[in-house]
Amino acid sequence: MKLVKVKNYKELSRKASDILINEISKKPNLVLGFATGETPLGLYKELVMAYKKRKVDFSKIKSFNLDEYYPMKKRDKNSYYFFMHNNLFDKVNLNKFNINFLNGETKDAEKECKNYERKIKKNPIDIQILGVGVNGHIGFDEPGSREDSKTRLVRLTDSTIESNFKIFKHGKIPDKALTMGIGTIMASKKIILLANGRAKKEAIRHLIKGPVTERWPVSYLRKHKDMVLIADKACLG
Ligand code: GLP
Repeated sequence: MKLVKVKNYKELSRKASDILINEISKKPNLVLGFATGETPLGLYKELVMAYKKRKVDFSKIKSFNLDEYYPMKKRDKNSYYFFMHNNLFDKVNLNKFNINFLNGETKDAEKECKNYERKIKKNPIDIQILGVGVNGHIGFDEPGSREDSKTRLVRLTDSTIESNFKIFKHGKIPDKALTMGIGTIMASKKIILLANGRAKKEAIRHLIKGPVTERWPVSYLRKHKDMVLIADKACLG
């Protein structure tokens, strides 16, 4: 695991964006895995700015998002689908046919997850961006998630529902979600984990020092061959 220590959130977002832009320039048809939450917002702003300055071209990029609440309408402002379009996809030249999302509107969650897993197998993810939950979840892989888990329907913990309330616009957060599994995430060729702030300190400690355990799903990432952690002082402690 490579650790990139940064001074603050601005630097974290810039570092992540520099890595992505550099990788896209080397391989313009990269398959990117995107994450939601507050943490990658700065990265998405940097990417939009770089696109406006013509420093990056997304026209051949394919994308897969990690997760989506279930059930959830795409047009709902709380959906991750809306979040990604609002913060990145609508502001850059990513081809809408190349955007892959778990459909929170599906009636058949199992089939949806199987299809998504199949699509990822056909288009292996080159770089997966990740944030981490306060309880160590990645994607919506909550504590207890198995190392070989695949894309599936999961139940969210009370702690995740409570922490995610900060970016939920209105109403009640669903207590279920569709998420790539730990095994799906670990199959990505490269992983970039972004973490900032004191709230993430315990999760990051489990990633760096703790044993690899299903109680802290983020700790599985230690086993990945090409994993970069970009973290600020506050969460490194
Ligand atoms: C949600 C997402 C995760 C994200 C986490 C942390 O649970 N499913 O992918 O990493 O929130 O979010 P934040 O970056 O807002 O702390």
